[in-house]
Amino acid sequence: MAMKTSSFLNSWLLVAAVIASWLTLSCCGNETDRKMFIVYMGDRPHNIETPTAASAVHISLLHKVTGSVSLASESLVYSYSKSFNGFAAKLTKAESEKLSGHESVASVFPSRLRQLHTTRSWDFIGFPQNVTRTTVESDVIIGMLDTGIWPESQSFNDSGYSPPPQKWKGTCQSSSNFTCNNKIIGARFYHAGEDFKNGEIPSPRDSEGHGTHTASTAAGNTVTPASLLGLASGTARGGVPSARIAVYKICWEDGCSDADILAAFDDAIADGVDIISLSVGGWPQDYFEDSIAIGAFHSMKNGILTSNSAGNSGPDRGTVSNCSPWSLSVAASTTDRKFTTAVKLGNGRTYQGVSMNTDEANKLYPLIYGGDAPNGTSASSGNCDIGSLNKTLVQGKIVVCNGVNQGTEQVRVGAAGSTMIPPPKTVNLREVAFPFPLPVSILTHADGVDLLEYINSTSDPTGVIYKTQEYYTNDSSPRVIYFSSRGPNPITTDILKPDLTAPGVDILAAWSEGTTMTGLDGDTRIVPFNIISGTSMSCPHASAAAAYVKSFHPAWSPAAIKSALMTTARQLSVEDNSDAEFAYGSGQIDPIKAVDPGLVYDAGEIDYVRMLCGQGYNLTQLRLVTGDQSTDCSGPTTRTVWDLNYPSFALSYDKPTSITRLFRRTVTNVGPAPTTYKVFIDVPVELEIRVEPEVLFFKETGEKQSFVVIVTAALETSMLSGSFILSNGIHHVRSPVVAFVSGEEDI
Ligand SMILES: *[C@@H]1O[C@H](CO)[C@@H](O)[C@H](O)[C@H]1NC(C)=O
Ligand SMILES: *[C@@H]1O[C@H](CO)[C@@H](O)[C@H](O)[C@H]1NC(C)=O
Ligand SMILES: *[C@@H]1O[C@H](CO)[C@@H](O)[C@H](O)[C@H]1NC(C)=O
Ligand SMILES: *[C@@H]1O[C@H](CO)[C@@H](O)[C@H](O)[C@H]1NC(C)=O
Ligand SMILES: *[C@@H]1O[C@H](CO)[C@@H](O)[C@H](O)[C@H]1NC(C)=O
Ligand SMILES: *[C@@H]1O[C@H](CO)[C@@H](O)[C@H](O)[C@H]1NC(C)=O
Ligand SMILES: *[C@@H]1O[C@H](CO)[C@@H](O)[C@H](O)[C@H]1NC(C)=O
Ligand SMILES: *[C@@H]1O[C@H](CO)[C@@H](O)[C@H](O)[C@H]1NC(C)=O
Ligand SMILES: *[C@@H]1O[C@H](CO)[C@@H](O)[C@H](O)[C@H]1NC(C)=O
Repeated sequence: MAMKTSSFLNSWLLVAAVIASWLTLSCCGNETDRKMFIVYMGDRPHNIETPTAASAVHISLLHKVTGSVSLASESLVYSYSKSFNGFAAKLTKAESEKLSGHESVASVFPSRLRQLHTTRSWDFIGFPQNVTRTTVESDVIIGMLDTGIWPESQSFNDSGYSPPPQKWKGTCQSSSNFTCNNKIIGARFYHAGEDFKNGEIPSPRDSEGHGTHTASTAAGNTVTPASLLGLASGTARGGVPSARIAVYKICWEDGCSDADILAAFDDAIADGVDIISLSVGGWPQDYFEDSIAIGAFHSMKNGILTSNSAGNSGPDRGTVSNCSPWSLSVAASTTDRKFTTAVKLGNGRTYQGVSMNTDEANKLYPLIYGGDAPNGTSASSGNCDIGSLNKTLVQGKIVVCNGVNQGTEQVRVGAAGSTMIPPPKTVNLREVAFPFPLPVSILTHADGVDLLEYINSTSDPTGVIYKTQEYYTNDSSPRVIYFSSRGPNPITTDILKPDLTAPGVDILAAWSEGTTMTGLDGDTRIVPFNIISGTSMSCPHASAAAAYVKSFHPAWSPAAIKSALMTTARQLSVEDNSDAEFAYGSGQIDPIKAVDPGLVYDAGEIDYVRMLCGQGYNLTQLRLVTGDQSTDCSGPTTRTVWDLNYPSFALSYDKPTSITRLFRRTVTNVGPAPTTYKVFIDVPVELEIRVEPEVLFFKETGEKQSFVVIVTAALETSMLSGSFILSNGIHHVRSPVVAFVSGEEDI
């Protein structure tokens, strides 16, 4: 999910769009109306050899509910059978209900639209250009499920690359002028929706920018010099610059449909990608009614970690999406690079605003307050709402607006620029430098009031908006940005989400030349690199960190890689991050440390299934998901959520109380042996953590040791956080422990 162009608005739009889609889905008044549904049938069909045979099974199932062979094949949109079993089809509500009762069906849910949620950032997190790399890094393939890619970008130049690794089984869906190379080794596009809209390219080519940006953040080449029209100038690079990229274009103008997302997962797993990066999300759903959780589950079964954006719906609690325990959920935080856009008035006064203004003219213009230039009797011209400004009065001037908007109206009336005044008490919109289609500077509320007074005080108010300048400071950095979605996890409260944080604010990375810098009307700037923000941008940082770990440890499971990233993450300051672990999870990624974590909390399919049993998931459904009739939820194998071998700890209770809970864990020594780990605990007085035994001795590498963690919390406030470290003096394996009152959260 990108926070592109004043997207604090977009996060509202996102919520609105999601709610709107619920409304349309819950209506379904007309019995004969057909809508796209996902029919998920669990594990890959082992007894069915070919995709044609699989689709025949799907059609025969559809025949049973539609009553007609031709209707059955017409309604089938996708058959999934390479990596899991299921299909997407256009069904009436009654047909979908009939299917959901069928013994071979794990779940049926409407295909919803999800929404999309640059490179000094690597240096900032302590991952410099000259880090030690393995030669197998170039065998690592990152699957990018996004808006496609701009193959001509220098970030994807394949000069010096060998042919794709042997294990690669994917294809390149070349179309007109799109071709793959030895960097972009595969590319496909999925468009189950209606016709292609104007501007949508039936090709893996990116006409939006987002997919090019995320792909280059994960695995773009080292490109010097790179900048956004002189801003943030330096070297752009991905986290694993020699890794290969496989592109799965799933997002179009309206969003990214579940049907396309599952089709991409089905292919990507079978194609042989190593890591899946997916900066897309919607409202959290039950795991087996959530295309991303389903795709990530089957990825995990096949040894592939899925790295997801946590969402841009913060700072409210309980807003985190992509919560499945088998995937990684990544929050977005700031780096030490900040941007300031100065505004100087005719009276000599200067204000430091914030934005991404690339205009170098630094020219003096007349100033006008939007409220003094209404179109007719428009009451909202002070906010510069669409259609509210009088062109005759505003054209060629810098218009002052209350609140922050995308700048569309200002462009429409030909304003020379715009200064925006945020309301007095809101999230700090000035933590992000948003780009606009015209020169803009967002002032503080107080400076804005000052500016309005100046306009009132003279008959000839004037001002200059200067080109944005960058500066560096570690004051209150890293801080999880306000829009980054917060925990607690709304699906399984006792699994802490997000898992960790990575840079996601004002990130420079490659851009599509098939769009402009903002993609908004009035913008003509074509840029090879762009600066945007979002958990969409932090997710590929974590995907690359996972790929980096994988390049050292090709055999590690998704859970082991995830554990390595989480237990070595840098702890962030609670002073700068008031929501603590609900904002940053285990902390900020540290890829170098993650290569050598000492111990890992490993887990596989069976562990997740036991947890789902403990959560009361339907056994019939779980047997379909595992593809194993012997999957059993009764007896000693059933585990509660507290026993899932997760590298972080969450304990919720619905009201303030004193509570004790026991968690079971097993760690695997992935470092040298023999070695002895001791427990170090860090807690506030209201929280008690006991780890038994307190000393873990490992005779060998690969050896496992189990222990229990007993957490007692006197829950009077809404959240308590502590942590413990298992340390052998060299490795410090850290786990956050959070206890909270879930009843207080509006989730
Ligand atoms: C339902 O939709 C069908 C086809 O679109 C239409 O012919 C029919 O009149 C609709 N019925 C109602 C009750 O709206
Ligand atoms: C990378 O370069 C820095 C200084 O430029 C140096 O201190 C560091 O040791 C180098 N690291 C490696 C792994 O070569
Ligand atoms: C790729 O990079 C090489 C080496 O820098 C350069 O010679 C070549 O022109 C580039 N290719 C494209 C298509 O830009
Ligand atoms: C690709 O083809 C389309 C349509 O033919 C054209 O508009 C576009 O400019 C081409 N892009 C590139 C990078 O060649
Ligand atoms: C816009 O302003 C001009 C100049 O004051 C005025 O003549 C015109 O009526 C205004 N137009 C509208 C639609 O308000
Ligand atoms: C002014 O407002 C009217 C009525 O809302 C609208 O039709 C018209 O397009 C607007 N004109 C301008 C110049 O914005
Ligand atoms: C500017 O003047 C108008 C009209 O006299 C008044 O309503 C407004 O409050 C003044 N604004 C400021 C910031 O002083
Ligand atoms: C901020 O901290 C990071 C990591 O500790 C460091 O790499 C960077 O140079 C610091 N920046 C400034 C401006 O001091
Ligand atoms: C599980 O789901 C199946 C199929 O939907 C249903 O028949 C069965 O009753 C459910 N079992 C339980 C224990 O809810």
